[in-house]
Amino acid sequence: MKISDVRRDIPFLDEVIYLDAASTTPTPKPVVDAICDYYHHYNSNTGRGAYKTAVKATSEVEKTRSKLAEFINSRTEEIIFTKNTTEAINLVAHGLNFKKGDSLIVPNIEHHSNLVPWLNLKKKGVEIKIIKSDPQGVVDPASIEDAIDQNSKLISITHISNSIGSMQPVEEIGKIAQENDILYLIDAAQSLGHISININKLNADFVAFPGHKGLLGPVGTGFLYGQPEALNELDPLNLGGGTVSDVTEHDFKLTEGPARFEGGTLNISGLIGLGAAVDYIKRIGLDKIEKHGKKLTKMMFVGISEIENSVVYGNPEDIYDMVGFNINGVNCHDVAKILDEQNTICVRSGMHCAIPAMRQIGAYEFGGTVRASIHYYNLKEEIKTLIDTLEEISKFLGS
Ligand code: ALA
Repeated sequence: MKISDVRRDIPFLDEVIYLDAASTTPTPKPVVDAICDYYHHYNSNTGRGAYKTAVKATSEVEKTRSKLAEFINSRTEEIIFTKNTTEAINLVAHGLNFKKGDSLIVPNIEHHSNLVPWLNLKKKGVEIKIIKSDPQGVVDPASIEDAIDQNSKLISITHISNSIGSMQPVEEIGKIAQENDILYLIDAAQSLGHISININKLNADFVAFPGHKGLLGPVGTGFLYGQPEALNELDPLNLGGGTVSDVTEHDFKLTEGPARFEGGTLNISGLIGLGAAVDYIKRIGLDKIEKHGKKLTKMMFVGISEIENSVVYGNPEDIYDMVGFNINGVNCHDVAKILDEQNTICVRSGMHCAIPAMRQIGAYEFGGTVRASIHYYNLKEEIKTLIDTLEEISKFLGS
């Protein structure tokens, strides 16, 4: 699919210059249509009713599970639906039986969703070893290896940083985790739908994914990949309808498979939309998405770097589909507001739910960064407008 075809499917893109894909992406028409089709024609619950529309709803949701599995090269029963990446990570943080004295290894460039759930385990007496990234926001696998001790139970790291865009050496770290028999979780919030992901290459026990970012799926969708043995170690977060195979007045038996982690009614329409989103991304082609992303990221990085008073973060060779920056002398939120006011450019500004990461790259004193993040639907012309508007901001307000 051409960029123009995708833009035709997303009318929102005619109204704004949308550079906030890392927060959430706009939803293409076929995804919205799939959601509407459910509401108009088979609006029933899943996994319960024997009547035809309920069976269809169940089958459509299960199709999404299979499509997601195929997309990341896993098995269907390894996919657990969640409402977002955060919930997927929390499922692991709450569900693994961490004990006093266990230790965890987490870098300091993480989104709070991949840091706070682990820090919370300190209450149980779990030790959290924080690994510093380099100044460009990349973690050295050797520093992870150095932190391992006999109590290490899990390593958790982002695939691509949500604030800097830096890609982490996740495969190498996966090998280290495997050699040392330590559980390994990857936060793939910013990589899925931007670059190709093959679960078999990651050596991960758990990978947490969003539906509403790179995949162009609906908000309120996400999923957890869990390697079968690791899933066996996990207790469900929500017990209730659908999670059990038998219940007496005194006890219950958990059901097999993903359903034991999916208590209560699912986000059925969202998950049906997510299935349509996977089809859509495949129609565009990940290779095209990645190539386009590299080109525009470089253009943004170079263009913003050349602006007087600008500070740009990360290594241009190593960042994916976003650029974090500041204009000296101008508060990052003011930059974002002016971009919007001048040319309806939507970017995120501030700490990006990654305060330690902001400290690590030296952006904390600025109140964080401005982050421009892209997907396949973005145009060169839009990046040029961003750069031109930033030049004006720097000229009149920068120092
Ligand atoms: N996690 C999303 C972001 O980085 C919301 O903006």
